[in-house]
Amino acid sequence: MDAADMGRDLERVLITEDELRTKIKEIAGKIDADYAGRDLLIVGVLKGAVMVMADLARALRVPVEMDWMAVSSYGAGTKTSGVVRVLKDLDTDIAGRDVLVVEDIIDSGLTLSWLVRNLRSRNPASVEICAAVRKPDAIKVPIDVKYVGFDIPNEFVIGYGLDYAERYRNLPFIGTLAPHVYGGDGKTTEKR
Ligand code: PRP
Repeated sequence: MDAADMGRDLERVLITEDELRTKIKEIAGKIDADYAGRDLLIVGVLKGAVMVMADLARALRVPVEMDWMAVSSYGAGTKTSGVVRVLKDLDTDIAGRDVLVVEDIIDSGLTLSWLVRNLRSRNPASVEICAAVRKPDAIKVPIDVKYVGFDIPNEFVIGYGLDYAERYRNLPFIGTLAPHVYGGDGKTTEKR
């Protein structure tokens, strides 16, 4: 899927495929240096993190294990609530392990704030966060993010794992959704 396949539903491209690729490589280089000689477990948060996990894992030179969690951050409503439910837990016992949580986006920060607390209670050696994008203007709880790709405006973003109603995850870039698609004004604190 690409920009042309979206027609009028795409407002604009925010981060191109090339920019994403370059940034992921750069982040992978930092992770390689930081975790040299260590036994790293990278944890992708489904479903949004699939693209960044796949790209990051292949760009890394340190050997890693990969595991996945699925959490539902929003309960029944569309607004960020901070209510997190584990839909799929890790298969791995992380006690004593170095863990790097990989996310597509930090919006309010509520999901990761809860997730990091949850993972720390399992006594890992370390827990750090890597996120492809972050919305500084939407943040509600402070999050200590070790690796971040891009800070973006508080707009309705899609692509590279990010969805609107489960669609557009398979765009190779990150773009903004035209307001007519979701009936909004472009600025949102709602779920993308
Ligand atoms: C997205 C994203 C994060 C969360 C970030 O997941 O992948 O997990 O929202 O938002 P927050 O910082 O406001 O908590 P979502 O619940 O949309 O599920 P998905 O990954 O399956 O799309």
